[in-house]
Amino acid sequence: MRTVSVQLGNRSYTIKIATGLLKQLGGECARLKLGVRCAIITDSNAGRHYAKPVYEMLVGAGFEPVLITVPAGEKSKSLKIVQSCYDQLAAHRLERKSFIVALGGGVVGDLAGFVAATYLRGIPSVQIPTTLLAQVDSSVGGKTGVNLNAGKNLVGAFYQPRLVLCDLDTLKTLPEREFRAGLAEVIKYGIISDAKLFGQIERNLSKLLKREPKTLAAVVGRCCEIKADVVGKDETESGLRAILNFGHTIGHAIENISGYGKFLHGEAISIGQVAAAKLSRKILGLPLRDVERIENLFKRAGLPAQISLNSAQRKKLFTAMKLDKKVNGGEIRFVLAKNIGKVLWNQRVPENLILEVSN
Ligand SMILES: NC(=O)c1ccc[n+]([C@@H]2O[C@H](COP(=O)([O-])OP(=O)(O)OC[C@H]3O[C@@H](n4cnc5c(N)ncnc54)[C@H](O)[C@@H]3O)[C@@H](O)[C@H]2O)c1
Ligand SMILES: [Zn+2]
Repeated sequence: MRTVSVQLGNRSYTIKIATGLLKQLGGECARLKLGVRCAIITDSNAGRHYAKPVYEMLVGAGFEPVLITVPAGEKSKSLKIVQSCYDQLAAHRLERKSFIVALGGGVVGDLAGFVAATYLRGIPSVQIPTTLLAQVDSSVGGKTGVNLNAGKNLVGAFYQPRLVLCDLDTLKTLPEREFRAGLAEVIKYGIISDAKLFGQIERNLSKLLKREPKTLAAVVGRCCEIKADVVGKDETESGLRAILNFGHTIGHAIENISGYGKFLHGEAISIGQVAAAKLSRKILGLPLRDVERIENLFKRAGLPAQISLNSAQRKKLFTAMKLDKKVNGGEIRFVLAKNIGKVLWNQRVPENLILEVSN
């Protein structure tokens, strides 16, 4: 088993990464001295596979869980669903020491995390991420929240879980396209902070695509370490944490203009990272060889590397980029790479260069 610790003073917690971890949930919750009553929040897909064993495990360990299943999909990150969760927590009489288990991908993690952050002004939560994206990214770091009609993640809270259990077995049931989309975040960690990891992904891509447990454990573990380190240094994104947004400025805008749902997040940021690599070449002199390695790795992972836009769509892309939360005083800022493994944030990029690379 790999363990990674997120260092945030008295809010520090552990991420455990291994196969067969679900079985340890009861013991882990007992060790954390959590209350007896609890809620499992899951969605219709993750729930179909894992709700029953998790429920039974908690009952077997002496807890009294209520199961809350929301529809699968981004639409469940809404205040309406939050409200219905609150109602079910209240009906089950959850109290301050009670806890929430988030069992699912990033949607469930963000939703359940937000419910935990706000119910009774905050009750403990345990994250059990069941998508690759959630294991390496959304379950770690305490960003929780839901969407408004006006945009994604506009309501939320920084709220750290008490424990994260990444059971690699849960990835076995993940649809292929979702798995590959998660790899876009995995590759991102190599680019932003670990050239060795990038090389390891290049060499072991076929094992990763086969979801070989040993390779997955090493790679997921390293990604969690990087995220934990960044979050430990800059929890609320006043600086360094911005590096996690490599490829996301263009990626978010692509998701936005193409209507959420056409591209999975991982696919959009794959295009975004290839574009950011090309911009990095123009602005920071990222070696051509590195740009090629980045583009090739996304392609080999079965991810899109570019998007063709007509001029009206390109205009929309710019408008969307300017609406992004990360815009500073109306100017679009980018995370750009100097080398594979080293990035700089808050980089100004002239619009004409963005036009050149988003072709
Ligand atoms: N909080 C953060 O720091 C952070 C970071 C990145 C992304 N996010 C958020 O995460 C969300 C995306 O997360 P995601 O990609 O995990 O999407 P998701 O939660 O929608 O999961 C993808 C699909 O896989 C299904 N699924 C989940 N686990 C499964 C399993 N083990 N087997 C079979 N099917 C399974 C889900 O039901 C869904 O249909 C977005 O809302 C995004 O905003 C948050
Ligand atoms: Zn992302």
